[in-house]
Amino acid sequence: MSAGLAAVRPHGTVAIRGGTVVDAGGSRQADVLVGDGRVIAVDPAGVEGDRTLDASGCLVAPGLVDLHVHLRQPGREDAETVETGARGAALGGFTAVVAMPNTDPAIDCAAVVREVQDLSAGACCDVYPSAAITVGRRGVDLVPMAELARLGVRIFTDDGAGVQDSQVMRRALEYAAGLDHLSGGRRVVLAQHCEVDELSAGGHMHEGEWSSRLGLGGQPSEAEELMVMRDIALSRLTGSRVHFQHLSTAGSVAMVRAAKEAGLPVTAEAAPHHFTLTDACCADYDTVFKVHPPLRTGADVDAIRAGLVDGTIDAIATDHAPHTSADKERPFDAAPPGMLGLETALALALTELELPIERVLALMAWQPAAVAGIDDRHGRPIAPDEPANLCVIDPGVTWTVSGAAMASPSRNTPYEGRELRGRVRHTLLASEPVVIDGEPQR
Ligand code: DOR
Repeated sequence: MSAGLAAVRPHGTVAIRGGTVVDAGGSRQADVLVGDGRVIAVDPAGVEGDRTLDASGCLVAPGLVDLHVHLRQPGREDAETVETGARGAALGGFTAVVAMPNTDPAIDCAAVVREVQDLSAGACCDVYPSAAITVGRRGVDLVPMAELARLGVRIFTDDGAGVQDSQVMRRALEYAAGLDHLSGGRRVVLAQHCEVDELSAGGHMHEGEWSSRLGLGGQPSEAEELMVMRDIALSRLTGSRVHFQHLSTAGSVAMVRAAKEAGLPVTAEAAPHHFTLTDACCADYDTVFKVHPPLRTGADVDAIRAGLVDGTIDAIATDHAPHTSADKERPFDAAPPGMLGLETALALALTELELPIERVLALMAWQPAAVAGIDDRHGRPIAPDEPANLCVIDPGVTWTVSGAAMASPSRNTPYEGRELRGRVRHTLLASEPVVIDGEPQR
């Protein structure tokens, strides 16, 4: 049947053959034919296309969605660009990423939103700029949210910093609640980097046994938890959605769980480093392990994992934060926080979490797509006429992490030399292969 369909599609079709299709509806053995941006056929009897991608032994899944990446453009193109970040994303299986606004200048006005949108044209994945909640991320004046929502911004966040002033956050939530109609009925959500500055000031890692031993200033768990607590209260007060970014403590997970049980419209994400690494990693003062919020204790790691398993946490988001070697070579208390994440996230989830593949994909594809309001294009079922944003995963292959082999000009992966299981083989954006057999095509 597919040969006939392919014949009427002169721009070229791609047949993904021999794999197991996995989406929110479950899994089944079938070939997939794509072309003109869409899925054409899903057929257990096989398909023929102008080009063929081998998927034998692999999973054919919706492309992954990352709610939290730092692409450093404009301002720090020596660390990452939209182009290199999107390439790394595609290599990691992502077909959509949400770019954080802590660029230089910050993404806080229409001109910078448009600049990032323009830079994204032709990139290896769809890049959705988020915008700051406050001008310059300074926590005082609200950005022109309505204007930015009209440009397509769905997520507003001062990420890198939390909004400290409760009244400013309350007003932002009230304002955001009225904006959905401006973005085609898609959701607009405020996302919070939860950190109370007065408590985290002077801290460079988690406050606890290891910070005492190492003589480094600590950031207590409560610096995060107080803001989670406040924003749950503000969600209750305003009725507005709040998305909690990179949760790192057991207390935060418990509060979000209780808020969800109470029916509040809150969602949350966690980063792979917070379910795989602890503050003990900082023992040698290696700045590759410096990150905000910091690596916490084993008990916190367990709580994050439990939150991912029981649905308290909606999404795995990388917090991909490239920094140049020169910046990371500074002393621990002077080096910038952050770690690469795009090319290791899926393998870490597959290697470290005891979750069935459908649950991993829920956390990395359709649930984050829903949080970002892009679930009309990403995280879709794999069925005829649906957008063909897909990744093909080899779940059994093992490989060794190497920062030098990554697409980013930065090298700051905390997993250097680690053996992981599961790797992306092909990625297709709007039916075009952007990664084939682990090699970027753009
Ligand atoms: O570790 C971090 N790095 N946390 C943040 O909040 C910001 C990010 C960055 O931009 O480097």
